[in-house]
Amino acid sequence: MNIKNNLILALDVTNKDKALEICKQVKPYINTIKIGYPLTLAEGLKIIKIIKDEFNANIICDYKVADIDATNSKICDLTFDAGADAIICHGFVGSDSVRACLDSANDHGKEIFLLTEMSHPGAKMFLQKDAEAIAKMGVDMGITNYVAPATRLDRLSKIRDIAGDDACIISPGVGKQGGDAKKTLEFASAIIVGRSIYESDNPALACEKIIKD
Ligand code: XMP
Repeated sequence: MNIKNNLILALDVTNKDKALEICKQVKPYINTIKIGYPLTLAEGLKIIKIIKDEFNANIICDYKVADIDATNSKICDLTFDAGADAIICHGFVGSDSVRACLDSANDHGKEIFLLTEMSHPGAKMFLQKDAEAIAKMGVDMGITNYVAPATRLDRLSKIRDIAGDDACIISPGVGKQGGDAKKTLEFASAIIVGRSIYESDNPALACEKIIKD
């Protein structure tokens, strides 16, 4: 995926008009938009195609898919059929569940991002201890896209070591969660930024500042 300025917008607003307005403002800086549950639950799956078509953007759906294989297949099929270019899937559920996501992506000519360790403090309670094994499983399965935290650079660096130099690692946690854009990009391929952009009075300027940094 070609990610302009190595910057992905997490568009976690809950209203179509607001979403479109922010996309319009950041269009000169951003070509890849992450849509999660807040916007999808508010506006339905159709919002994927609306934003994709209007802004010619790559759409990554952050649905953190984490079910049994049969259900994962259905979730991924529906998401790709709705126009998503990629979907984020949890790795902790194991290789059969992840395989279902990968197969769906391959059938549609689309991609998955495998979530290893999350960026929030709670990730230390359970997920962190298995994050490296999750990344290793991804490598064994031939997965080349990963999500790893900007909030813990030592952990991000570890995931990079496992995934390899050619992997695409996208990293949330810059800005409001405390991560630093420049330091994160020493290890990550792109950063994911939400509130620091969409809550800003001037989202375009916020992008410009992050890119300069
Ligand atoms: P903020 O507002 O904190 O938004 O810049 C961050 C965005 O990223 C999502 N998020 C994650 N997604 N793995 C993911 O796949 C993670 O570890 C993770 N941490 C945060 C968050 O939901 C928001 O959309």
